[in-house]
Order: sequence, then C-alpha cells, then structure tokens
Amino acid sequence: MDLYEYQARSLYPKYGVPTTDGWVVTTPEGAADAATELAPSATVVKAQVKVGGRGKAGGIGFARDPKAAGEAAREILGMDIKGHTVQRVLVTEAVAVSAEYYVSVLVDRARSGYLAIASAQGGMEIETLAATRPDSLVRAPIDPLQGLDLAKANEVVGAARFAPEVAGRVAEILVKLWDLLRGEDATLVEVNPLVLSEDGRIWALDGKVTLDDNAAFRHPAHTEWRDAEADSPLEARAKAAGLNYVKLDGQVGVIGNGAGLVMSTLDVVAYAGEKCGGVRPANFLDIGGGASQQVMADGLAVILGDPSVRSVFVNVFGGITACDEVARGIVEALNVLGPAADRPIVVRLDGNAVTEGRAILAAHAPPQVHLEDTMDAAASRAAQLAQG
Ligand SMILES: Nc1ncnc2c1ncn2[C@@H]1O[C@H](COP(=O)(O)OP(=O)(O)OP(=O)(O)O)[C@@H](O)[C@H]1O
Ligand SMILES: [Mg+2]
Repeated sequence: MDLYEYQARSLYPKYGVPTTDGWVVTTPEGAADAATELAPSATVVKAQVKVGGRGKAGGIGFARDPKAAGEAAREILGMDIKGHTVQRVLVTEAVAVSAEYYVSVLVDRARSGYLAIASAQGGMEIETLAATRPDSLVRAPIDPLQGLDLAKANEVVGAARFAPEVAGRVAEILVKLWDLLRGEDATLVEVNPLVLSEDGRIWALDGKVTLDDNAAFRHPAHTEWRDAEADSPLEARAKAAGLNYVKLDGQVGVIGNGAGLVMSTLDVVAYAGEKCGGVRPANFLDIGGGASQQVMADGLAVILGDPSVRSVFVNVFGGITACDEVARGIVEALNVLGPAADRPIVVRLDGNAVTEGRAILAAHAPPQVHLEDTMDAAASRAAQLAQG
C-alpha cells in the first residue's frame, strides 16, 4: 500500500527524521486556520494524492499569509491530478531552501536485497534525474544481513559528492530512513526533496512510503490507513475477516476454495449468465484451504451484505479439507446467519468425501440451498436464480 505524503511524514518523528509541522485539511477555511495556527511567515499548501509530479500539475501552492493559504487550498482542493481528485491538502511551514537533495531506500527484488539511492541534485523526479544527470545518482546495494549502518551511509553520501558541511547529517538521515523502512516493513521510503535551509538545517520536505501488505499483521497501527484504502465497505469488512475478496459488479455471489478455482468459477458464471440476460459474477472470494464454519459464515455474510447479489454459488473442491467438513461448515454458517441468508445458494461439492458431504447437505441444509453435481450445472442454476 502506498501512503499519502501526510501519512508518510507522520512516521518521521518516531525515527528522528526532521520535517516541518503540518496540518491536513479538507476545506479552504481549514487551510487558513492551519496557517494561522502554524504561524510561520509563510506556508506551503500541498495536494495529497498518491501520484508523483504534483508540483508541475499545480498541486503545490506557496502562501505568504493565512488568507493566501485559504486561497491556495480553494484552487487545489477538487483539482484532478493525473486522474486523482484532491480531497485533502497538507498545510505546512515553508522552508527557505538553499539546496535540494534526493535520498531513498527500497527493496530491490531483482537482486534479492535492498538499495540506497542518493543524489545531491534533488527536487526533480527521480526518473528525470536518472535520465538527465545519471552521474549524479548513486545506487548502492545494501546487504540485507548487514543493513545500512552509518559507515555504509557515509560511503553512499561520499560517492554522491554531497557538500562536506551536510554529508555527515545526510548520512545520519539515510540510516534513519533505513530504520523506518525496516521498522514499518516498508518496501520504499523516498524523500525528494531533502533540503538544506538557508539557516543551515536539514529537512525532509516530502515523503513517499510504500508498506509491504504481507507484513500488515505486524502493524496494527497501520490498520486505519488500510481500512481507508479499501475501495468499498464490503472489501473492508472482508479484509477484517481475513478473506480474499474483490467486489465486482454482477449479481451472482461466488465463494470457492483456491484462487484458481474461483477464477474459473467467475468464467463459468459469466458464460452461463450470457443466457440469463447478461447476469455476471458479483465478486471474487477465495476462502483458501480451510472452509470451516466460521470462514464460510464470514464469507457468506460479506457476500450477502452486497445488495446487488441475487444468488450465491458456493464452489468447493474438497482436498485436505474434506467435503463433509465443508458441508457442516455451510449448514452451521446458515444457522449463524439466520434470516440474513435470505437468497438462494447453489452448492457444488466435489473431491475428498464428496458422498458424505452431499448427504449432510441433503439432510440438514435449509430449502434455499440447491445442490448440483457439476460446476457447469451449478453455474447455470445460480445464473437462472439471479435472473428470476
Ligand atoms: N515546506 C516547504 N517549504 C519550501 N518549499 C517546499 C516545501 N515543500 C515543498 N517545497 C518545494 O516544492 C517542491 C515540490 O514539493 P514536493 O516534492 O513535495 O512535491 P512534488 O515533487 O511535486 O510531488 P511528488 O514528490 O509527489 O512528485 C520541492 O522540490 C520544494 O522545492
Ligand atoms: Mg517530491
């Protein structure tokens, strides 16, 4: 997950990365208030969008006083930057800049390691810098076992020919960015620009951080950002239940075990749906290997929470999890859900212990559960039920 600049900056204090104070606001009045509160002589109003090159697109305004900050925010809020609508701006203290630098640390997948990048010529986009001043850019591989210590950071900064009066401090910041990368399980931490102010101080004026989603479980503090990131409330709810769910725009809810099976289920539902007035799958939901009662109940609850769902197709191939367990899971899940399970559910079970599984469903499942023997027949049935 990519973070907004203001979120990335909020991680800086914990690691001792120096940055300007700022407020995130959604209205021009809020921006004027923020500028008054920050009370420096000037502020910068910055569009918060997850896309680079905001400055060039007009998403960054300089304001001499609070009134001008309000006006800048009025200009920038609602602006479209490369397809992203600006909903928030960061109002932050303006620094009198004397030099701009570039520093980043990131995961280098190609080399199964990390990379530190530094340039004493920052400010412009790294791609432009790489194209126009390739010699100014130092790319140093970091051994994952050794990490980026001060000695290594000094080496990088030395190779990038930073001015002697800042080199030591930039190296220290590189180490702090490394600590942030490791501490927050990020795959990228980029500061562009890192600046030297006219009064001789170093400031990180921007921040681009990408978090490793696979490490989300280690960072409860990031949950709020992740929830806000989810496109729909249903996706947020699925994520909370640990389910792999993607909302689609059709009418047939789909649950399966294994991503490959679920993807082919989407195909057969779409195919069968063509004969039923263009009915389509409503979601992707892979419940993985363990189709337990709780997982099944959570999955069904998410799917039935989607008002456009008119029927559900449960497609499970019993492997390590045998079909009788799955069948019990379905029956118990429907008990848990009660009246919420108010739409027809077509079940296709196959594989390990299929006879027992089907027998359990035939004997104990409520009448809205329809059993089918094959995937194609089940897809047709689910599509017809969604149409009718
Ligand atoms: N607080 C600040 N004080 C003074 N100048 C600033 C401040 N913040 C940004 N700037 C100036 O604005 C330029 C652009 O800012 P920033 O790097 O945050 O946005 P950007 O580069 O346009 O966006 P992105 O990094 O997302 O591509 C900086 O290079 C710097 O010159
Ligand atoms: Mg920048």
